[in-house]
Amino acid sequence: MTFERSVKIAPSILSADFADFGREIEAVEAQGADWIHVDVMDGHFVPNLTFGPPLVKAIRKHIKTVMDVHLMIAPVDPYIDAFADAGADFLTAHLEAGPHTHRTLQAIRAHGLKAGLALNPGTPVEATAPLLDLCDLVCVMTVNPGFGGQSFIQTQVEQVRKLRAMIGDRPIHIEIDGGVDPKTAPLVVEAGADVLVAGSAVFKGGSVSNSNPYGENIQAIRASIA
Ligand code: DX5
Ligand code: ZN
Repeated sequence: MTFERSVKIAPSILSADFADFGREIEAVEAQGADWIHVDVMDGHFVPNLTFGPPLVKAIRKHIKTVMDVHLMIAPVDPYIDAFADAGADFLTAHLEAGPHTHRTLQAIRAHGLKAGLALNPGTPVEATAPLLDLCDLVCVMTVNPGFGGQSFIQTQVEQVRKLRAMIGDRPIHIEIDGGVDPKTAPLVVEAGADVLVAGSAVFKGGSVSNSNPYGENIQAIRASIA
């Protein structure tokens, strides 16, 4: 995978039909998704539960693009093996998930995966400075993690701008997660983001049997940043 800073849209399957992930992924990729964002929640690090490695492994074969796995779990390290075996391309852990994030990022790369570091809205981006050379992606949360459909936290735009300056020429993606839609996408792209996660804004109004709205919704986000 060569590094590309052009904007990529990563629909979050948190907003898809949980009983039909395979067909939902195929539909949203056919409608223009660049990556597929997979939200793993443990009911402990965040106040919601989704699914674990067996499901991630089962959906892998339906993903032709990039599988971007966002771990909202603590601890992370005991599960890296399982998510690597499940076929994650990017594996993202939260800075707030434990005291040894440096070790976690090293372990993710040691498994041959791209390493991501996610930041809650309350965490200053400056905290990533000693870790950036271990990161292939930094995910700036623009909602408090745990649920889809929440409102975008505007003050995070300045965090993105600071992070973009800190990264400079390094091949590190800046991903935005939470409340991305055609109104908020231009703000974060202008500040330096290149991966836009969007759940409700992509899946709204569509279904596997009526997937054109997915394409229209993706197009609306692309048009907003053109
Ligand atoms: C939130 C998740 C997000 C979520 C985004 O904890 O990490 O990926 O699905 O959903 P929207 O786009 O609806 O805010
Ligand atoms: Zn996410």
